[in-house]
Amino acid sequence: MTDAQWRALQGWLRDWTGMRVADHRRDVIGASLAALARELGLASVDELLAAARAPAPAPAPAGDDIRDLLVARVTVGLTWFGRELGRLEVALARVEDRCRRAGLDDVYVWSAGCSSGEEPYTVAMALLDRGLRPRVRATDISVEALRRAGGGRYRTAGLAAAPSSWRARYFDQGPAATVEVREPVRRTVSFARHNLVTDAAPPAGWSRFDLVVCRNVLIYFEHAEVVAITRRLAAACRAGAELLVGAVEQSLLPAAATDVGPAPATTTTTTTTTTTTTTTRAAARQAPARPASVPAPASALAVGPAPAPAPAPRPGAVATPAAGAALDPVEHLRRGLAAKRGGELALAIEHLRRARFLASDRWLAPYALAVCLEGVGRPGEAVEAYRHAAALMARGVPAGLPEVEVEVEALAETISGACHARLAALRARGAAAVAP
Ligand SMILES: C[S@@+](CC[C@H](N)C(=O)[O-])C[C@H]1O[C@@H](n2cnc3c(N)ncnc32)[C@H](O)[C@@H]1O
Repeated sequence: MTDAQWRALQGWLRDWTGMRVADHRRDVIGASLAALARELGLASVDELLAAARAPAPAPAPAGDDIRDLLVARVTVGLTWFGRELGRLEVALARVEDRCRRAGLDDVYVWSAGCSSGEEPYTVAMALLDRGLRPRVRATDISVEALRRAGGGRYRTAGLAAAPSSWRARYFDQGPAATVEVREPVRRTVSFARHNLVTDAAPPAGWSRFDLVVCRNVLIYFEHAEVVAITRRLAAACRAGAELLVGAVEQSLLPAAATDVGPAPATTTTTTTTTTTTTTTRAAARQAPARPASVPAPASALAVGPAPAPAPAPRPGAVATPAAGAALDPVEHLRRGLAAKRGGELALAIEHLRRARFLASDRWLAPYALAVCLEGVGRPGEAVEAYRHAAALMARGVPAGLPEVEVEVEALAETISGACHARLAALRARGAAAVAP
């Protein structure tokens, strides 16, 4: 793909989907689009791009919109059964509590950005486990992902993170090493194409939801889009409903999530042993109302700062890690991220510096450190930390935090893009000149 083609493609994707596509994916995407062009009988990527850009793109042979097919090849659809199940169960427990108190068994869920369906089926199975009746709407921008989701057949290996009891309870054996979601579960989930950036939320004619799950999707968007999408998702919640974003989004996008506006909603935070879980209850002061929906005000949202996973350190002081943990880079990284979320940037900087010193070949600490340094007005040092993080990501090293390592593919792409964007912005302000 030429420079001009690549830049143009990045611009169109941003317009069509709000999505950022990082430069380091250029070769992979180029190869993927060349393959798509061949599959569609087009002579080149140029022809494919021209067809996708046409005001009314011609349908592809199978009747699909060419633009949809192109977008599907660019999106990252990594997902699996039982992903972040602990966090989901925390939200489901609250949903169950509300529904039981209201004497209702039907639970309305929207899985937005559902990819190939593992997430909405996971939600449905977890609700069935609780004796509730799932009514799950699942949407994605990728028509290819939705086709796989509708098929309901998966590789057995994709169940590794799900409770072992689910294999017998909710799946039939398929051909070779595959399993098929059983019909009673499939009936509880319906799939539809929906673009979180351009389409109404909830789509016209849909009722509002007891739970909206949008995980590992927002990381692909610009800050302004994240705020706008999060507002729309909150508006799709019933009064007192739960909005659940991914752990990675929670820990890495706190600013985007917290400056959504005034928050009449109750923000509930629950700490588990390994991850910090935050869900938002939209307009929680109101009682659940059904079947008539009570729209949560658009501003009724605050995915608030999560508490530290360890006992809160004294403000302004570097907490002494538990015995044996003083030299643990992961412990310092967790404490640094927690302090960052809580807005204690000086404390965060101390911990993140230690984390970076103790594990100098991991990229999350220098990245978070750079963000904090920018936040306290030290752009020269921020430039150095961004450069360090970007260089490590270019080498493909791990992030340095066990709970996010599985997300590394998506994370590294997003954060690397963020590093380069911040470096460009800081350079434009002359910060590079003062970098050490
Ligand atoms: C990494 S997957 C996440 C799947 C699932 N939510 C999970 O956490 O396992 C991200 C999904 O977001 C979808 N996506 C990206 N941009 C979107 C948009 N503008 N509207 C709707 N879905 C989008 C992608 O097609 C992809 O399937």
